[in-house]
Amino acid sequence: MKILVTGGAGFIGGNFVHYMTKKYADYKIVVVDNLTYAGNLATLKDVKDKITFYKADIADRATIDGVFASERPDVVVNFAAESHVDRSIDNPEIFLQTNILGTQVLLDASRKYGVSRYHQVSTDEVYGDLPLDRPDLFFTEETPIHTSSPYSASKAGADLLVMAYFRTYALPVTVSRCSNNYGPYHFPEKLIPLMVVKALADEPLPVYGEGLNVRDWLYVEDHCKAIDMIIHKGKVGEVYNVGGHNEKTNISIVKTILDILEKPYSLITYVEDRKGHDLRYAIDPTKITKELGWVPETAFADGIVKTVHWYLENRKWWQDILSGDYKKNESTWGI
Ligand code: NAD
Ligand code: DAU
Repeated sequence: MKILVTGGAGFIGGNFVHYMTKKYADYKIVVVDNLTYAGNLATLKDVKDKITFYKADIADRATIDGVFASERPDVVVNFAAESHVDRSIDNPEIFLQTNILGTQVLLDASRKYGVSRYHQVSTDEVYGDLPLDRPDLFFTEETPIHTSSPYSASKAGADLLVMAYFRTYALPVTVSRCSNNYGPYHFPEKLIPLMVVKALADEPLPVYGEGLNVRDWLYVEDHCKAIDMIIHKGKVGEVYNVGGHNEKTNISIVKTILDILEKPYSLITYVEDRKGHDLRYAIDPTKITKELGWVPETAFADGIVKTVHWYLENRKWWQDILSGDYKKNESTWGI
């Protein structure tokens, strides 16, 4: 089996490559990533001898066609995306370019060369948000698409395109919509890694608004396991929600990190709220649990300690990002 993984030098894609190379020694893994600011070859250095890597933009039709022509993958898993909501608010254009048009290029190549599965890694953000005072409500696969940010709108556009290629061309697709991930190799612009590196530097921790927005956190390896199950056992044309019923306010996450690092709460600084800030995300994972037997394995109390310790033990990985050296070291896989 040959799997083409796009965005494999990013956070979740990188963890997925580690997971798959460990679990399936006989699979061939081809990674396509154009190494944007969020892509880091150091994330893949431990598995570099087990993969084939192409530095390529998923929206570059000619190059992607060439990769498919020479690699002929059986399965495509598309992680490649612009992924940060705040950046999408500042500059939406690249989000539409990569997330929508890039997806279309991959779908066309998948059709042309014939794949047994095209899997789109999507997000719970396509459902918009839930009110804070209705803890009984959850996102199911039937929840209407109702996006808030240019990022989530671009991911929703891609999802609709993927489903259109299933209906119109019978391309064998699946889509997963996961809640917030955390774990190793998470770029330090997102809440958890940002707070860890700022706390270690005794810098102010910027909490948006009152810190009461709720996210549903899942350890990244549990997301990788879900995608593994979907590409092997999932039904084509189906959407699967992925989440572990682990809702936390942002302020409680920040305090947990400060507790683990034994740093004072006085580092917390409340700053201006994000524009259009989604209030609460909460996934109902009944479908993937019932149909595929997926259940999360890592409890948040363990996963967050493991994650903070990873950042303590892998300082070079994130310090090279903060200094910009990770881009200078690209030719040597950040070694
Ligand atoms: P990330 O920003 O850490 O990584 C994205 C990767 O894609 C980077 O390696 C980047 O270089 C690459 N990339 C970006 N544009 C590209 C292009 N045009 N061509 C080729 N490669 C390109 O993102 P992440 O957090 O790992 O998210 C991966 C996927 O999972 C995204 O599709 C995201 O929408 C989705 N998702 C993320 C989360 C989360 O909590 N992080 C949750 C649910 C879904
Ligand atoms: O739900 C899945 C989504 O989770 C993914 O689709 C996105 O790619 C991923 O980035 C993530 O989106 P969020 O916007 O939820 O993640 P972020 O880490 O940016 O923010 C989490 C919460 O923390 C959010 O309510 C905003 C808040 N926040 C974030 C930052 C960066 C702060 O309070 N301060 C900050 O500095």
